[in-house]
Amino acid sequence: MQKEPLILGIETSCDETAASIIQNNGSGVPKILSNIISSQFDVHKEFGGVVPDLAARAHVEKIDLIVKEALKKSGKNFSEIDAVAATAGPGLIVCLTVGLNFAKGLSISLNKPFISVNHLEGHALSPKLHTNLDFPYLLLLISGGHTQFLSVNGLGNYKRLGTTIDDALGEAFDKTAKLLGVDFPGGPQIEILAKKGNPDEYTLPKPIINKGGCNLSFAGLKTAVLKVTKNINYEKEKYNLAASFQKTINEILYKKTKIAFKEFKKINKTKKNAFVVAGGVAANKSIRDILTVASREEKFEPIFPSYDLCGDNAAMIALVGLEKFKLKKFDKLDCPAKPRWPLDKDASFLKGAGVQL
Ligand code: KG4
Ligand code: ZN
Repeated sequence: MQKEPLILGIETSCDETAASIIQNNGSGVPKILSNIISSQFDVHKEFGGVVPDLAARAHVEKIDLIVKEALKKSGKNFSEIDAVAATAGPGLIVCLTVGLNFAKGLSISLNKPFISVNHLEGHALSPKLHTNLDFPYLLLLISGGHTQFLSVNGLGNYKRLGTTIDDALGEAFDKTAKLLGVDFPGGPQIEILAKKGNPDEYTLPKPIINKGGCNLSFAGLKTAVLKVTKNINYEKEKYNLAASFQKTINEILYKKTKIAFKEFKKINKTKKNAFVVAGGVAANKSIRDILTVASREEKFEPIFPSYDLCGDNAAMIALVGLEKFKLKKFDKLDCPAKPRWPLDKDASFLKGAGVQL
C-alpha cells in the first residue's frame, strides 16, 4: 500500500515559532500528528506590541528546537517527510525569512520538495483540519493584521468581497485593550472583561455601517474609547467599556456578514452555503455566537476552526502544503519572503471603499 504523504509545516510570520507534522488521510480529514507553538508573549509584553528584530531573534533561537519537537511528537523520522512547507508571507520580513530559510535548508538536506505557503490561505483552509468542507464557501478572516470577507473558490482561488478600510479587527481589540490598561495582546482579555460589564453603558460608533457594502471600518471605535477614557476612572469602568466595545463589534459584524451573504450568493450557486470564520479573533465566543445567529437566519452553515487552530499555528501551513503537494505545486529555492501577499490578486483597489489596499 502506498504511504500517505507526510508534510512538515513551519510558521514564523509574526511572534509565534511553530512547526507541525500532518499526514494525508485518503479522502478524509488529514491527521495532525504534532502541532507545536512557542509564543513570544514575554519577549514583547513590555513594548505593548511585536518588535520585529526581537521577534526574528527569538525565531532563530527557537526554530531548530521546535521543529525537532514536532518531529519527536509525531513519532516520525526526518527521512519519512515528503515535503517541507513554510509561510512565505504576508508578515514581518525579518521573521518570515527565518522560517523560510530553515525550511529551504531542510528541503535541500532531505532532498524533498519545498513549498511556500500564504499565511492567510492557512487561516482560510484551517477548518479543513477537522471538517470535510467543499469549495466554494464564504470566509470571514479576522486576525491581527487582516479583516476580509472572501469567496473561497478553491486552492489559490479567492475573490475578495469586502475588507477593512483601516484597522484590522484584532488590531482594534489590541489597541482598545491598551487604552484600558490591559497587556498585549489584549483581544482575549477584552472578551474576559466584557463578561463582567454592562454592554449598554456606552454608545460607540459603527463606522460605514450603512454604506460601503461589506467593507468594514474600526478606527473610529478606538478613538471613541480614547475620548471616554479621558473623562472616567477606567479602572472602575473598564468592564463596561469592554462590554460596550464587544457589543458594538458584534453589531457591526452581524450587519456586514448579512451583506456578505448576499454578495456571496450573487456569485455562487451552491446547494449548501457554508460560512467559515477564521483567524485569531475567531476564538472570541461572543463573536462566534452572533455570527452563528446571523448564519442560521440566512441558512448558512457556520463553521469555526477549533480554538487551538484559530491563532497562528503550523498545522494550517502544513495543510496548505499538503494540498499543494497533491497538485505537485512545488517552489524553487529562490522564492522570496513576501511581506505583502493578498489572497485575491485582483483586489488591490476596491471600488466603493475609496481606499488603496
Ligand atoms: O491570527 P492571529 O493569531 O495572528 C495574525 O495572523 O494576526 O490573530 C491575532 C489577533 C490578535 O490581535 C489577538 O488579540 C486577537 O487575534 N485575538 C482575539 C481573541 N483571541 C485572539 N481577539 C478577540 N477575542 C479573542 N478571544
Ligand atoms: Zn495569522
